[in-house]
Amino acid sequence: MRYGLLGAGMMGREHLRNLALFEDIEVVGFCEPDRGMQEQARSIAPDAQLVSDLPALLNLELDALVIATPNYQHVDQLMAAIELCDVPILIEKPVVTRLEHIARIRSAVAARSRQVWVGMEYRFMPALATFANVIHQVGVPAMLNIREHRYPFLKKVNDWNRFNRFSGGTFVEKCCHFFDLMRLFLDSEPVRVFASGGQDVNHLDERYDGEQPDILDNGFVTVEFENGCRAMLDLCMFAEGVKYEQEVSLVGDKGRLDCQIPGPLAMKNAADARAQVVFSPRRPYGPQIDSVEVGEDLLRAGAHQGATFYQHQAFLTSLQSGSAPMVSLDDGLKAVLIGLAAQASISAHQAIEIDIQKFKLRPLS
Ligand SMILES: NC(=O)c1ccc[n+]([C@@H]2O[C@H](COP(=O)([O-])OP(=O)(O)OC[C@H]3O[C@@H](n4cnc5c(N)ncnc54)[C@H](O)[C@@H]3O)[C@@H](O)[C@H]2O)c1
Repeated sequence: MRYGLLGAGMMGREHLRNLALFEDIEVVGFCEPDRGMQEQARSIAPDAQLVSDLPALLNLELDALVIATPNYQHVDQLMAAIELCDVPILIEKPVVTRLEHIARIRSAVAARSRQVWVGMEYRFMPALATFANVIHQVGVPAMLNIREHRYPFLKKVNDWNRFNRFSGGTFVEKCCHFFDLMRLFLDSEPVRVFASGGQDVNHLDERYDGEQPDILDNGFVTVEFENGCRAMLDLCMFAEGVKYEQEVSLVGDKGRLDCQIPGPLAMKNAADARAQVVFSPRRPYGPQIDSVEVGEDLLRAGAHQGATFYQHQAFLTSLQSGSAPMVSLDDGLKAVLIGLAAQASISAHQAIEIDIQKFKLRPLS
C-alpha cells in the first residue's frame, strides 16, 4: 500500500515510525515545508520522496493519505484533497477548529465514495481498548470521569498551538480525544455542556510578536448525555509530576471500572510503567486488577502507548476489506462540537445546549 504524508512534525513522524512497522505499507512521499522537520523525517523514511505541495503528493498514486498538519489548516487541506482525488484519508484530530466549517466539510465528504478516518488515537490505546472491552461489568452506566493531569503544551513548528485561533482552543485541540471517549464509552450523544476553565500557570510570560498566548491550562467540563449519563473531564496541564497522566472511571449500578495510564516521566521507571484496568464490584469487596503491557517497539514508535500503531492496523484493515471507518468524519466532528461547547461555556459562564443532529450549539437561555 502506497501512503503519503502531509506534515512531518511531531505527530507526522510518529505516523512514519509506526507505518515503518508494517510490511504491507510503503510511505512513498511526504510534504513538509520546515527544513529541520524534513531532515528528521528523511532519517525515518529515507526512500520517501519529498514533494513541494499537496497536489504533488497526490500525484504519487497513493492508496492512502495521512494529514498531520496544524489544526487550522485541516479543513482547507481536506477539501483540496477531496477535490483532487478519491484517495482514502486519515486526518489528525481536530478535524475542524470552528463551528462554521462543519456543514461545509460534511457535505463535501458525504459526496465521495472513499473513506475519511479521523485520528482519534486514544480509542486505540491498549489500556483504553481493554477498558472498552470489559465495560459491561459496571452494569447500567451512570457517571464517567476522565482526568488528564499532564505537562504543558509542547513547542510546535511556528508556535501554532499558542493561540486559540489556530488550535481551536485547548478543549478542542487536546480534549476532543476525551469527548470522543465519552461518546464511545457511554454509547450516547451529548445534549448539554457546562464548563469552567482558565489560564492560571502556563505560557503567561511568553510573547509572540508581542502577543501573550491565550491557551487555557486547566478546567472542568460537565457533559450531560441523551441516555441520562453524566460525564466530567478534569484537565490540568501543570501537573506532570503525577504517576498517572490519564485516569478514567466509569460507575454503574454494579461497580466501578477504572483505567490508569502512566505519563512519560513514570514510564522511565519500570515499576511504574504499566497501565492498569481495575474493576471494583460494589460487593463483595475485591478490586480486580489487570495490568496492560505495551511492547517496547510500539513504545519507541510514539508517545501514545502504541495507540498510533493499533490505529494504523485498523485503518489498513478497513482499506483492504473495504469496511467503514471505525472513526468516521461525524465522530471526529461531534468530539469537536463538545469541545467548542466547552470553550463557549467557559467564555460565557453559561451552559451550552448541543443539537447533535444539526451540529449546532445554543446557549441555555
Ligand atoms: N492524535 C494525537 O494523539 C495527536 C498528538 C499530537 C498531535 N496531534 C495532531 O497532529 C497535528 C500535528 O501536530 P504536531 O504536534 O505534529 O505539530 P507540529 O507543529 O510538530 O507539526 C506540524 C507540521 O506540519 C507542517 N506543515 C505546516 N504547514 C504545512 C503544509 N501546508 N503542508 C505540509 N506540512 C505543513 C509543519 O512544518 C510541521 O512540521 C495536529 O492536528 C495535532 O492536533 C494529534
